[in-house]
Amino acid sequence: MKLTRDGFSNIQQRVNLEETRKNWTALGESDAMWVVLTDPAKKGNRWAAADFFATGKIEVEEIFTQLQQAGALPLSGRALDFGCGLGRLTQALAARFESVDGIDISSSMIRQAVDFNKFPDRVKYHLNARENLQPFADGSYDFVCSMISLQHIPGRFQQNYIRDFLRVLKPGGVACFQTIHAHGWRTFIPEWSADLVRKWRSHGQPFIPLYGIPVERVNQIVRDAGGVLKNHENSDHLGWESRFMNDTFIVKKL
Ligand SMILES: C[S@@+](CC[C@H](N)C(=O)[O-])C[C@H]1O[C@@H](n2cnc3c(N)ncnc32)[C@H](O)[C@@H]1O
Repeated sequence: MKLTRDGFSNIQQRVNLEETRKNWTALGESDAMWVVLTDPAKKGNRWAAADFFATGKIEVEEIFTQLQQAGALPLSGRALDFGCGLGRLTQALAARFESVDGIDISSSMIRQAVDFNKFPDRVKYHLNARENLQPFADGSYDFVCSMISLQHIPGRFQQNYIRDFLRVLKPGGVACFQTIHAHGWRTFIPEWSADLVRKWRSHGQPFIPLYGIPVERVNQIVRDAGGVLKNHENSDHLGWESRFMNDTFIVKKL
């Protein structure tokens, strides 16, 4: 282990974005549908593509019900799906929006998303390994969606992306995104030490890390970026990590 002179917060063992990119590129090459939806019965390439994409349709309809309840409808125009993976939600969003852009850090995910794309004239996939959404113009989207993706990105990068969700939205546009936050004893485990254990346990193999971000921090970023919170829902995290709670935010750009 290499320690820098700056102290623990700069321990080299923290996962950086290049490692996130390598991890998800390797994960996307092996059992891509399962790494997105980790149903134990589907491990080993057992997801049928039709069933996998059907879950996306159901989820997008649920998102729209939540948007309606939050008074954040109607929506049409341009949508952005951040951390799109194979395009499970991106494809379903095409039923609601004129055009949809899916963004992912993993070239293997993007490659397969392009192959699964049923609407190539209206749905585009973009590889973005930056710490932000710099290639995407200010005020250019009506809707930004991000599900089960921010939770896999180290906290310091999640903040940039959430800030940029607000930046790329048009005034009056809406974002619906999901994060997680630690609870109980897990709150006391710093990110760098969890990363250290993950790296040690994985023996150089790709792994799927989870990173929390406090709800107050998200609210602060949204406010500072010119957004207003329309709804926040807190629920149990359905993954294998019971030490986290799930948060879904619906925010509107002023
Ligand atoms: C569990 S999958 C979810 C995919 C999709 N949102 C869905 O619900 O089907 C997480 C995705 O986030 C992507 N991802 C991880 N870090 C990212 C980053 N910094 N920027 C963009 N995508 C990222 C991964 O490559 C992976 O495709």
